[in-house]
This record gives sequence, structure tokens and C-alpha cells, in this order.
Amino acid sequence: MFGPWQIESNSFCRCLDAESQPMIEIEHLQKRYGSFMAVKDISFTVRSGEVLGFLGPNGAGKTTTMRMITGFLHPDGGTVRVFGNDVHTHSLKVKTLIGYLPEGAPAYGEMTVKSFLNFIAAIRGINAAEKPRRLESVIERLQLQSVMNRRIETLSKGFKRRVGLAQAIIHQPPALILDEPTDGLDPNQKHQVHELIRELAQNCLIIISTHILEEVHAVCTRAIIIAQGRIVADASPTELEQRSRYHGAVRLNLPDSGLAAELSILPGVAAVESDPLSPGRILLFPEPGYNLFPTIREWIYQRRVDVVELAVERGRLDEVFRRLTTEETDRCA
Ligand SMILES: Nc1ncnc2c1ncn2[C@@H]1O[C@H](COP(=O)(O)OP(=O)(O)OP(=O)(O)O)[C@@H](O)[C@H]1O
Ligand SMILES: [Mg+2]
Repeated sequence: MFGPWQIESNSFCRCLDAESQPMIEIEHLQKRYGSFMAVKDISFTVRSGEVLGFLGPNGAGKTTTMRMITGFLHPDGGTVRVFGNDVHTHSLKVKTLIGYLPEGAPAYGEMTVKSFLNFIAAIRGINAAEKPRRLESVIERLQLQSVMNRRIETLSKGFKRRVGLAQAIIHQPPALILDEPTDGLDPNQKHQVHELIRELAQNCLIIISTHILEEVHAVCTRAIIIAQGRIVADASPTELEQRSRYHGAVRLNLPDSGLAAELSILPGVAAVESDPLSPGRILLFPEPGYNLFPTIREWIYQRRVDVVELAVERGRLDEVFRRLTTEETDRCA
């Protein structure tokens, strides 16, 4: 079992002066592969302290955008500025400001974890006096002690991902771009990475791509959904949930499914859906702008019904994601 990661003081990511443009600014970014437009005019700004979740179906253009932000891929149009530095004209400077976990966490497989991290520390220009402390810190944070002398190619997928995260944070960058950082991690490690991201976010800006929608709630302050190379939503997780048809629906478990008909005619109830596997479990959808909960609570009290479960839905991100990303597909078909 992995112990809790030690979180250092807030100094892990260099705190930037608020005057020094603490942000990544992306304007009209485009990328074409042959005749195929993978990224079509993407613009957004991320500020220090934000954890931006980058969501989208397979092939939406997340990795392509992240590679352009980090300077590993040239855009065909648009600009990226990282703390005021244009990625095109100040590529090296930008690379010092960013920690990047590429998709699949590639590393030099024949190297041991120890030699790889030493190598990264050297190319990141960490001086000899500082290096042992930095190495110790990332090894502890990513719980890599047991694999330090193993060749990377022999590690499990989760350990490879942790080595990738270690190399991304070793130089204490003020911006982190993490392409699917928890892909392949077990639930304990996922939890630890979420804690690490939340801690780093106090002094960093972080962009993470993910297919795990629960992750958006766990760590993100904001989410951008892209589909077919375009932004289709840019909002906080709560705002996105409010766009769900389930937002404000009241879920309850009735002892007798026949009672659903009675509920369906209460004021403010727009529709009723019942669970085909358990007909007593129903969802009551409100009329637009109507708060159904007090009405239902009053009905339960007056009718003295023994309700097992009663809850108001916040909304479902997966439904919003599906609707937004398939609408875009339909428009482009
Ligand atoms: N080097 C390349 N040459 C040609 N097409 C490419 C190349 N790299 C990516 N693509 C295409 O560009 C589109 C966007 O790919 P990208 O990897 O950015 O998507 P993604 O959103 O990261 O997807 P995933 O969720 O599967 O990681 C896809 O259709 C992909 O096939
Ligand atoms: Mg990708």
C-alpha cells in the first residue's frame, strides 16, 4: 500500500508575480494534417490557480492542442503565449516554464528510473546542490522508491505514468500540461495524483486532458470540451452540470410504483421516468425554473409515504458531454 505523499510548502511551483502575465493565452490556434483540419480555430486563456480539464472524444484534437501549447508541434495558424512568451519565437524559454506529460508518458525505456530522472534534472539545468533535494521530493511524491533501479521498459503502465509525472514536475514549473495523467493508474494512485494536482494548483496553472469525467469534479476548476477540433463548451463543472436535463430532477425510491402517477400530476412536475429494473425508483423532472424539492417533500409528509431514497440531482456531466459532442458531429456530418 502506498503511503500518503508528502506535500511540501507552497513553493513547489515557483510563484509568479501577478504582474508577469500569469497565464497561457491561445488565440485562433489551427493545425492541419494533410487536408484534415485537426484543430480549427481554438482560443482560450488559462490563469494561475486554474486547473483546466480538457475534455473531448477520441480524435477531438486535445493532444494536438497540447503539443502546440508546449512547442512540440508547429501550428498552421494562431498563437500561443506562455507567461507573455510566444511559443514560436521563444520556444526554449517556454519549455523551461512548462512541465509536460505527453500522451502515453513516453520515456527512454532502456534507462533505469534513477538514471532517467538524473538525466532530466541535468537537462533541466538543476544545479548539483539542489538536485538531491528535488529528486528526493519527486521520488517521494510519486512513490517511486521501489522501482528506482528498474529499467523503465520493465515497469507497469501505472509506474511508467508516475515516472512521466515525476519528470514533468522536477523543475518546479509554473505551468503543467498533463495529457491523460491518470490513464492506467489504480484507484489509490489516481486519488494521490488528484491530491498532487490540487496541491500544485495553488501556485501553478494546470491543463489536464482526461476521459474520466469524475476527474473533472475531483480536480478541475474549469472544463473545456472540444469536438472535431472546436471548443463546444467552456465553463465550470457546476455550470456544465446545470446544462444537463437531469439538473434539479428529484430522485426517489417509492415502496409502491403505483404512487408515481400521483406524483406526476403535482405542480411543477414536467415528466416522470422510472427505472425499468426497479420501477419504484423514479426521477421527477421539473418544469423549467421550478424547484421541485419542497413540493415532493410536502407530498411525502402529507401522504406519510415511506420513501427509502430522496435526492436532488446536480446534473450529469456524461449526458452533457454526449449531447455537446454528438451535436457537433451531427452539424459536421
Ligand atoms: N501525426 C498525425 N498525422 C495525421 N493525423 C494525425 C496526427 N496526429 C493526430 N492526427 C489526427 O488528428 C486528430 C486529433 O488527434 P488528437 O491525438 O489530437 O486527438 P485527441 O483528442 O488527443 O484524442 P484521444 O482522446 O484519442 O487522445 C485525429 O483525427 C488524429 O487521427
Ligand atoms: Mg490524446
